[in-house]
Amino acid sequence: MTNRFIYYGHSSLGLEIGGLKLLVDPFFTGNPKAKVGASELKADYILVTHGHGDHIGDTVEIARRNKSTVVAIPEILQYLESKGIKGHPLQLGGGYHFAFGYLKMTLALHSSPLPGGGYGGNPAGFLLTTLEGQKIYMAGDTGLFYDMKLIGEEGISLAALPIGDNYTMGPDDALRAVKLIQPKVVVPIHYNTFDLIRQDVGAWKRRVEAETSAKVVVLNPGETFSLEF
Ligand code: NI
Ligand code: MN
Repeated sequence: MTNRFIYYGHSSLGLEIGGLKLLVDPFFTGNPKAKVGASELKADYILVTHGHGDHIGDTVEIARRNKSTVVAIPEILQYLESKGIKGHPLQLGGGYHFAFGYLKMTLALHSSPLPGGGYGGNPAGFLLTTLEGQKIYMAGDTGLFYDMKLIGEEGISLAALPIGDNYTMGPDDALRAVKLIQPKVVVPIHYNTFDLIRQDVGAWKRRVEAETSAKVVVLNPGETFSLEF
């Protein structure tokens, strides 16, 4: 069974791993780039990096309908569990062997209020090691931090990195991130959704591929990338 990575636009990602469906930061309602509606999505698991509306997004609706398990930091889970969602808590630096692989929660330099303004704990990213041993790093919303080098030491197959600037790393720092992480493949995310995060992704791809050995895979919303590489 082919494992697949799916880009839904903005930071909304999908993973199909060993027949299980995962969504990461499922933001469809109000996402101008989304090609599908939240009601069409299936998910066994939903991973939430932080509480901002463009990340927690449609988690409640999708998780309720699919009886998905949500993986997030305890403060976000508490909020979701109060809405009847079931979850699995992870904390920064901690990981757990799920049916789809080993999932570890990583640092992110950002903020994380809950919808409504409550305390959402620390923002995060995720590092998934699939059952086949591929390592997928999904950075979430973050600025550049030097500990990305530690993440890179694990040997990253694919890194999904924000390049939009303003709220996250911009193109220059995202290039420095690629140099720290040294992934085989990079998928740029969190850009061109709104005017504030407009970037020339083609120019970024050329720079990264000229200055590093990473291959940049630019996915349009709805496109998938086979994790057989
Ligand atoms: Ni955010
Ligand atoms: Mn965001």
